Amino acid sequence: HKRSSDSRGALIVLEGLDRCGKTSQSYLEELGHAVESWRFPDRTTNVGQMISSYLGNKSHLDDHTIHLLFSANRWEKRSLMESKLKSGTTLIIDRYSYSGVAFSSAKGLDMEWCKAPEIGLLAPDLVLYLDISPEKAAERGGYGEERYEQLEFQKKLARSFKALRDASWKNINASLPIEDVEKQLRETVLNCLETCGQGKPLLELWL
Ligand code: TMP
Repeated sequence: HKRSSDSRGALIVLEGLDRCGKTSQSYLEELGHAVESWRFPDRTTNVGQMISSYLGNKSHLDDHTIHLLFSANRWEKRSLMESKLKSGTTLIIDRYSYSGVAFSSAKGLDMEWCKAPEIGLLAPDLVLYLDISPEKAAERGGYGEERYEQLEFQKKLARSFKALRDASWKNINASLPIEDVEKQLRETVLNCLETCGQGKPLLELWL
């Protein structure tokens, strides 16, 4: 998996229902070259703090308004993202525009309206969709503390995610034992790193 020193990093996104196991995947950081793990929402910015307060039910916002804040939270990171990738750092990001559109459209907003503010953000080289049934995710611990963690909503969400599959999308069977999930992820990620090292251009949404 040798890569030339001026090759760019890969933009890799982890997506899935709540409690699908995305955040247990930090071992991806041990891939052997420059990798950073990010997540959206990034709750450290001013916009991120408004989102965090909304998610914790400490404030109420209209569905369109919160949608645009999630999008703004990605836009405020776009230029840093681009410079990291161009300087050779691979970014592994927990949730991105796919969550943005899937969550808001599962609430009933029009999908095309939801996609519009994401146009021009960097397109991932790889979207790893940790595929698990809503029922199985609900059996996992800690479910139900935040706004969206209810079974009926997660079922709608699963349908919205499936409507967003594109060329960068890989389904990972996330109901298997953790070692098997890791094996699937590792193989897919190494494959992607190789392709990006070979000069694959950095594109913009939507693919
Ligand atoms: P987190 O639990 O991964 O920090 O994400 C917080 C919640 O926000 C999670 O339920 C997914 C949701 N979300 C959106 O509704 N829109 C978005 O754009 C993102 C990134 C997350």
